[in-house]
Amino acid sequence: MEVERLSTGVEGFDELIRGGIPRGFFVAVVGEPGTGKTIFSIHYAWKGVEEGDKVIYVTTEESRESIIRQASMFGMDFARAMDRGKMIIIDALTRGKSDEWSINNLDVEELVNKVIEAKKVLGYGRARLVVDSMSAFWLDKPAMARKYSYAVKRVLYKWDFTTLLISQYAITTQSAFGWGVEHVADGIIRFRRRLRNGELRRYVIVEKMRHTQHDMRLHVIDIIDGRGMIVKGPTRLRREDFALPEDVKRRIRG
Ligand SMILES: Nc1ncnc2c1ncn2[C@@H]1O[C@H](COP(=O)(O)OP(=O)(O)O)[C@@H](O)[C@H]1O
Ligand SMILES: [Mg+2]
Repeated sequence: MEVERLSTGVEGFDELIRGGIPRGFFVAVVGEPGTGKTIFSIHYAWKGVEEGDKVIYVTTEESRESIIRQASMFGMDFARAMDRGKMIIIDALTRGKSDEWSINNLDVEELVNKVIEAKKVLGYGRARLVVDSMSAFWLDKPAMARKYSYAVKRVLYKWDFTTLLISQYAITTQSAFGWGVEHVADGIIRFRRRLRNGELRRYVIVEKMRHTQHDMRLHVIDIIDGRGMIVKGPTRLRREDFALPEDVKRRIRG
């Protein structure tokens, strides 16, 4: 049986997962701040617009305007896609705005209801959902992470979404704010960064993708103005190369 796969729109990435993300999957996109999670998600959303999918992008850490501006730097016209009824950006940052597509409380039930409402407006058919990020919904209650993630998956699975759930990592501990998304995820894409010879380098690795014989290597990525994210190729870095310095580890252990 052939698996239907959705292209991510990121140059060089689909090849790592045999052509794309299987339709209907919930994929966790994890990594520290500044590793490229949002830019990856923007590509994924835009590819959906190009392929005629209904696209919903929930933003909790940046305003809708910020997402539109970031996309425009890579030649993607999100404002036009919204005008043409192909995309809805749900703004969960800019509170108290009397805007049909904002959510005022970082409440999972409100999130799910708003997403379903948006899907009804966009219409039937294959859809893409990005929640950037899920971590915002359990910042003050990390123990709920798993339960909330599960609730989102259980309610939304019948709406024909293929979903990216972004999860923020704490820099100091390299652990998520509550392991939640990973437990319910059909796939895990991990972004990383480190200094090499005084220069910031970014990497990506596919840690899990059900129904897929995926690439197992860490890959170097680049983000280029006017063009966006590209996967350049595998690197020889090992897991140990990302270990925290000993003094930081000692401080965390207390
Ligand atoms: N127009 C651009 N050209 C080149 N690099 C950019 C551009 N815009 C953003 N970036 C890079 O992308 C980074 C932000 O990536 P982002 O996807 O927002 O990270 P995350 O969501 O993981 O926190 C910036 O720190 C910068 O290095
Ligand atoms: Mg981000």
